[in-house]
Amino acid sequence: MKEIIVIVDFGSQYSQLIARRIRECNVYCEIYTPGISAEKIKQLNPQGIIFSGGPSSVTQKNAPRCEREILSLGIPLLGICYGMQLIAFYLGGKVGKSSAREYGKAELNIDDTHGLFSGLDERIITWMSHEDKVTKMPKGFTRLAHTRNSKIAGFANHNDKIYGLQFHPEVVHTPKGKEIMKNFIFKICRCRGLWTMKSFIKDAASQIREQVGEHSVVCGLSGGVDSSVSAVLLHKALGKRLHCIFVNNGLLRSGEAEQVINTFKKHYHLNFHYVDAEKQFLNALKNVTDPEKKRKIIGRLFIHVFEKEAKRIKNIKFLAQGTLYPDVIESRSVFGGPSAVIKSHHNVGGLPKKMHLKLIEPLKFLFKDEARILGKELGLPDEIIERHPFPGPGLAIRILGNITKERLDILRQADLRFIEEIKKAGLYRQVWQALTVLLPLKSVGVMGDERTYENTVALRAVTSVDGMTADWAKLPAPVLETVSNRIINEVKGVNRVVYDISSKPPATIEWE
Ligand code: XMP
Repeated sequence: MKEIIVIVDFGSQYSQLIARRIRECNVYCEIYTPGISAEKIKQLNPQGIIFSGGPSSVTQKNAPRCEREILSLGIPLLGICYGMQLIAFYLGGKVGKSSAREYGKAELNIDDTHGLFSGLDERIITWMSHEDKVTKMPKGFTRLAHTRNSKIAGFANHNDKIYGLQFHPEVVHTPKGKEIMKNFIFKICRCRGLWTMKSFIKDAASQIREQVGEHSVVCGLSGGVDSSVSAVLLHKALGKRLHCIFVNNGLLRSGEAEQVINTFKKHYHLNFHYVDAEKQFLNALKNVTDPEKKRKIIGRLFIHVFEKEAKRIKNIKFLAQGTLYPDVIESRSVFGGPSAVIKSHHNVGGLPKKMHLKLIEPLKFLFKDEARILGKELGLPDEIIERHPFPGPGLAIRILGNITKERLDILRQADLRFIEEIKKAGLYRQVWQALTVLLPLKSVGVMGDERTYENTVALRAVTSVDGMTADWAKLPAPVLETVSNRIINEVKGVNRVVYDISSKPPATIEWE
């Protein structure tokens, strides 16, 4: 029997963390919006349900709610923070504001060491993040724990297997949180923990075969983690019925095209369509300096080139994309309106509609690090699995001003040296992204006794969790020194190297 825990997301910043914690216990889970019906949950037949936290107040008129019947399905239910308050609200308890605000660390006194708190000491440190709290329990509930300011910091209806916690067990600031989650998943929901990457591959491959039938799938392969892992997974399921198209737009880094060809054509022997479109892209970008124009031109041309190549392949009905779970969750966020477009990202978004293809997204239920584990399991080399993100428009948005073959070559050589030194120093995995930018300005230098008037390269390295916000990486000075020396001495056309010390926001990671 397949095991699954359903998480209903009421807008908490920690919902994805809940999912991560559960999956770390080898139990599969999915996140849904509060709009999920009781009927749908019944169909999913989960071992347990978790109501996440959320910023709202349950008593507010427009607070997110779910169908009340979900509480009477007879499925074990754990409400966290807002989730607990919602349970109280629906079942006749009372929720009010804390008179003394309890926010952050709080010492929890456990009154009932059975079930949820089994195996724990009577006092543990927890993490709170809501002003509201349950002030009166619903009928049939007993208290599990309290803190100095919350008389009811945990409650349970043992008969109906409904539980609530005022604090967040999913965050690291609740050191015993994982034990509590485990107690819920294994002791209360009676999961067995059978979900592994091996089992995922087996299930995903059979689902892919079922979805695709006797047709074929085309996949845009960029050599990035997501498209690479999707491709090898699809290849495992479909063999030669997967066609990968790799478009060399001439805007790639040094050795990148060769690496992709070696890995996928020579190692995996998959149906590999290599398109050399360097000239086309460079022609289209001639004298274009506006960042948004560059992005648009590259995006449109990519679609054109890809479509032309794909039309030559027979029996294609599906287009594969390496969409990951966070994209799926965030695109349907509880409150989310569309956010302002800062940069028009070039992804293959326009393709399926234009080409009348159906989408297949084999990674859409995986988080990034799960996709990496999957890639490893499928034999992808570390250089691909650990690779930093690289934008679709490639080096074009790292050359400010005009893009020429000559300037691309300068940047490629500089980039190669920066990345080599970062890897040598053992820092590659610690930074989210490291890159070089070629500036549209020349400055005076001196080499030997000669005056030089050459280009400036900016180094950019950032630490980040998801690329949404980022901090400039505090790279050790000796590493920066070596990089600077190497670039100035070894890359013809550069006589100055600067280090970008801006964070995002207000700067962005890429310069264009
Ligand atoms: P910014 O520059 O917006 O970048 O701070 C955030 C992250 O997104 C990457 N990026 C892109 N990725 N297509 C992509 O697939 C794009 O057009 C694109 N632009 C930026 C960037 O490298 C960073 O990791």
